[in-house]
Amino acid sequence: MPMTEAAAAGATIAVAVADAIAAAQRAFAAAGLATPRLDAELLVAHARGCARVELAWRRREPLAAEAQTAIAALVERRLRREPVARILGGRDFWAHRFALSPAVLDPRPETETLVEAALAHMTDADRAYRILDLGTGSGALLVSLLAERPRATGIGIDIEAAAVAVAAANAAATGVASRAGFVVGDWGAALAARFDIVVCNPPYVAEPDLARLAPEVGFDPRRALDGGRDGLDGYRQLAPATLALLAPGGAAFFELGFGQREAVAALFAAAGGHVVGVRADLAGIDRCLVVGAATP
Ligand SMILES: C[S@@+](CC[C@H](N)C(=O)[O-])C[C@H]1O[C@@H](n2cnc3c(N)ncnc32)[C@H](O)[C@@H]1O
Repeated sequence: MPMTEAAAAGATIAVAVADAIAAAQRAFAAAGLATPRLDAELLVAHARGCARVELAWRRREPLAAEAQTAIAALVERRLRREPVARILGGRDFWAHRFALSPAVLDPRPETETLVEAALAHMTDADRAYRILDLGTGSGALLVSLLAERPRATGIGIDIEAAAVAVAAANAAATGVASRAGFVVGDWGAALAARFDIVVCNPPYVAEPDLARLAPEVGFDPRRALDGGRDGLDGYRQLAPATLALLAPGGAAFFELGFGQREAVAALFAAAGGHVVGVRADLAGIDRCLVVGAATP
């Protein structure tokens, strides 16, 4: 009897950790998931309350029926294409783990390109940089930057109140809450202050492409993804608004979708900004547009 059926029937056949991993891996591979072994290990480790590395010496441990049922439930969620990070409740991003909720985007590894680019610009580790994170979501960008620059302060804004609550909790968990403020609002509309650094990963998926994304992306909030008919609606609003929020000498770091570099650069140029640089992600895709306030 397969492991999950045995659990459902309350059967007391001997199932060890290694068997549970193998069964989950088989199910994930059959469903066409990209990383079946990794996903299986992460979910079994989560159910066991241990680190993945500990599975190496816990392989022969027997699983009680309740543990098998718990693992089966996690496997079912993954087979419904819920991302592993959402099942585990957190995503490792830059140097920290960020709690997730249905209200926030699951931060993507390529967004770390913005952290790299901003830190390369923030060369004085002791300076009290003022940072603004537009569309903060889980707070991944702002919290990561504040953790790297101990005198910096910052504000994270999101239109979703439930996202702002997650970001504030992540700031507290990372030890930067005293230097972070979070606001519910429409981009930077409510702000009168000026900032040295603006980071933003706006929604940039073209509306017709949303239906073609991987099923896992369906667990992200639509508002975090939908960039309107051509994917550029967010940039159209943000280009003039952001330039008005930059302090003299400040720089803005915008995430780009694939192939959007020219169009987004043109929007910033039309708003009176100038492109300082572009940073590629690990796949070689132009991912971060760096923009200054005024034409030099
Ligand atoms: C692509 S997600 C980025 C989240 C996070 N910064 C990250 O990189 O993981 C875009 C975020 O912008 C927020 N957002 C969308 N429209 C907004 C608006 N008009 N004003 C403020 N935030 C908005 C969404 O709620 C979402 O959290």
